Amino acid sequence: MQPYTYNRNGIPFFHAKTELESQQDIYERYQEMVVRQSALHTADQLWGRYPFQPVLDFAKKHYPKETENNILEIGCGVGRWIATLAKQYPKSTCWGIDYSYQMLKRANEFYVEGQEISIDLNDKGLGQLTQKGEKLSNLKFGLVKAEKLPFDKNSQDLIVNSFLIDRLDNPKEGLEEMYRVLKPSGKLIVMTPLNFKQAVHWEKYHPPSQLSILLKELGFEILEWEEDLVVEEPLDFSGNFIRWGCLGFVVKKK
Ligand SMILES: C[S@@+](CC[C@H](N)C(=O)[O-])C[C@H]1O[C@@H](n2cnc3c(N)ncnc32)[C@H](O)[C@@H]1O
Repeated sequence: MQPYTYNRNGIPFFHAKTELESQQDIYERYQEMVVRQSALHTADQLWGRYPFQPVLDFAKKHYPKETENNILEIGCGVGRWIATLAKQYPKSTCWGIDYSYQMLKRANEFYVEGQEISIDLNDKGLGQLTQKGEKLSNLKFGLVKAEKLPFDKNSQDLIVNSFLIDRLDNPKEGLEEMYRVLKPSGKLIVMTPLNFKQAVHWEKYHPPSQLSILLKELGFEILEWEEDLVVEEPLDFSGNFIRWGCLGFVVKKK
């Protein structure tokens, strides 16, 4: 694994993110994005269910049978999926990586340092939420750009990501990196609404069958492909929600 450049409050920076990059990144906005993600990830307490459960249900049948694995979540946000994996595979080395320091700070405080978090959701009618943290010794978080992963070639047994691919400036570069670091026996599991940021990506990868062509060109074999997965993200106390129609796929190296 490549060394990190510097460490900020326990978060190693593998990409030396500049002040300008941080200002331009909406995922660094605490109230708008980190609180929204934290509400989602502590949703069982709020709504009695985890809205991203369809992601986990889709993925779990493809999880490794071995107990000791290298597991990587890219674009982990506040870390709930990778924490679920770290708990399920306590002998595995798990990394949650993201490009947002604010997301990683929250993830690290909650799942590594075991701090109780407090989230103000009064503007959604949901009040002040507090939740006790956990200390997962096999889980680490780092600031990384998905398009340049610090991991060695053929090093990861399982790579997962949700709601990431369409957020990338260059989805192809991100997928190429995932291919590089995936072990020949490993699996990559992706769940994405394909709500691309740029017109050029809509032209290239819509309908999703276009993306399957790219995956095959990159050297992946498709093990599962599901185009009608739905995730509903609750918005407030009155029951409004955003409905995301998602593509889910599982691939391995050919
Ligand atoms: C829509 S959020 C999804 C968070 C989480 N995966 C989930 O499903 O709840 C997208 C996440 O991807 C991260 N992200 C965006 N571009 C990235 C990049 N180039 N490299 C790594 N992470 C990135 C953002 O910082 C953010 O945390």
